[in-house]
Amino acid sequence: MKNIAVFVSGGGSNFKAIHQQISLGEIPGQIVLVISNNPKCSAIEYAIENSISHVIINETRYPNPHTRNELLTATCVKAEIDLICLAGYMKMLPPAIVKEYENKILNIHPGLLPEFGGKGFFGMRVHEAVIESGKRESGATVHFVDEIYDHGPIIAQKKVEILESDTAESVAAKVLKLEHELFPEVVKAFCEDRIMIENNKPKLVEYNEN
Ligand code: GRF
Repeated sequence: MKNIAVFVSGGGSNFKAIHQQISLGEIPGQIVLVISNNPKCSAIEYAIENSISHVIINETRYPNPHTRNELLTATCVKAEIDLICLAGYMKMLPPAIVKEYENKILNIHPGLLPEFGGKGFFGMRVHEAVIESGKRESGATVHFVDEIYDHGPIIAQKKVEILESDTAESVAAKVLKLEHELFPEVVKAFCEDRIMIENNKPKLVEYNEN
């Protein structure tokens, strides 16, 4: 059973999707900690409603960046976290935590990386850029986190077709729906030790019944 920490800043629909699959017994893990920079977000409300421990770490509570950064790692280490899921966490992770949890931090991105990623590509900006590009498909990506935005090794993607009639808003809705399938699937694979890394390339290993 893996101990999972989920980092959130907003609505937390991906956090809820993962939590629901855990509650259904689909994932051999438990969310033992939710970390947020935003005490007022719906994700924190959901954590409270479901009695999941949460910790707020932000500039207001911890103005010293060194203390703040250290606290992020220390809180996860103390809770014996095996996996960190970034589910709409709007802050850059400090290098120390990335190093401590190498290949143990997952991020979900609402586009098909390596395109439409990096600094500035978040939320609707991703979908607007996709529409402007005239691409016929978009999708969601789950990747391991390294020290560069949206750059770490890609684990899995799901794609969706873009129709003539689509707008950035309609693509956003389709992609979010895919995210709710993809993120729990990758978390499940991680918790079942089915993500192998060869030459820095993660590979999802399917079940072997034998
Ligand atoms: C998702 O679109 C995710 O890809 C991005 O932030 C959004 C978070 O949405 N990283 P939610 O808070 O999980 O609803």
